[in-house]
Amino acid sequence: MEVIIQPNAQMAAQAVADFIARALCAKPDAVLGLATGCTMESVYDRLVQKHRDEDLDFSRCHTFNLDEYVGLTADDPGSYHYFMRQRFFDGVNIDQRNTHLPDGMAEDLEAECVNYEKLITACGGIDLQVLGIGLNGHLGFNEPLSAFRSRTRVQTLSRMTRAQNAPLFPSPNQMPRRAITMGVGTILETRRCLLLATGLEKAGIIAKAIEGPLTAMITATALQLHPACTIILDEDAASHLRENDHYQRIVPAQTAVPAVSRTIPAQKINGTPQPTATLRKPLLVGKP
Ligand code: GLP
Repeated sequence: MEVIIQPNAQMAAQAVADFIARALCAKPDAVLGLATGCTMESVYDRLVQKHRDEDLDFSRCHTFNLDEYVGLTADDPGSYHYFMRQRFFDGVNIDQRNTHLPDGMAEDLEAECVNYEKLITACGGIDLQVLGIGLNGHLGFNEPLSAFRSRTRVQTLSRMTRAQNAPLFPSPNQMPRRAITMGVGTILETRRCLLLATGLEKAGIIAKAIEGPLTAMITATALQLHPACTIILDEDAASHLRENDHYQRIVPAQTAVPAVSRTIPAQKINGTPQPTATLRKPLLVGKP
């Protein structure tokens, strides 16, 4: 696991957008796993900007979203179908036929979940999975007690998740009580994953996810088992990490994607933010 701490939320979102852009340049037909949530909005804004300003090309990529509410149509403003179209798909040159989200209106939800897994496999698996994190440590909608080997399935949403997401609906009782989500096992099988968390309210759960013991009660601890996981945080979200100082002094040692060069996000050395650097080989800054 690699932890990258950025000075603020804007720079953290930029680092995630840059990471995705590099993955796409290295493999234009990449299969991207996508996430929703307020944290992701500024990532999508930046990707749309990169498409407009830098011709970042989405025409050959495929996408699979983590989750969707049960019982909402794609046109419902509360649905993740709607969110993705509004925030991202409509702003870039992606072929809408290559974008996939679970269908929360499917008559046979179990079959929908099985088919979603089959579709991911048929596309060759997910190259890069982008993740947010819920206040209870959920990934997608894998609520506490989700098995680390779980697959795409219907989940009943926890009280904490309903409280977190209800403000996004016109009234709290319009928020669905169930969702289809990729499983923890599905996420762990992705070739690379990239989690973004910002803000003080995520600091406690981030510390548990990164430094705490593995537990099915906190789904995000499963990422400690992922062979290629990068976590990008702003300073607020990183503020409860015990080894914060250690993470801030280490520039990631492995190139995330086989790009010719890579941009290392601004790091802090002795408390002073350093300028963004483009490096061609791993660099260790300060004491490990
Ligand atoms: C929802 C999504 C999660 C996401 C979470 C974070 O619950 N199902 O995939 O990680 O929101 O939300 P936010 O970024 O708004 O804190």
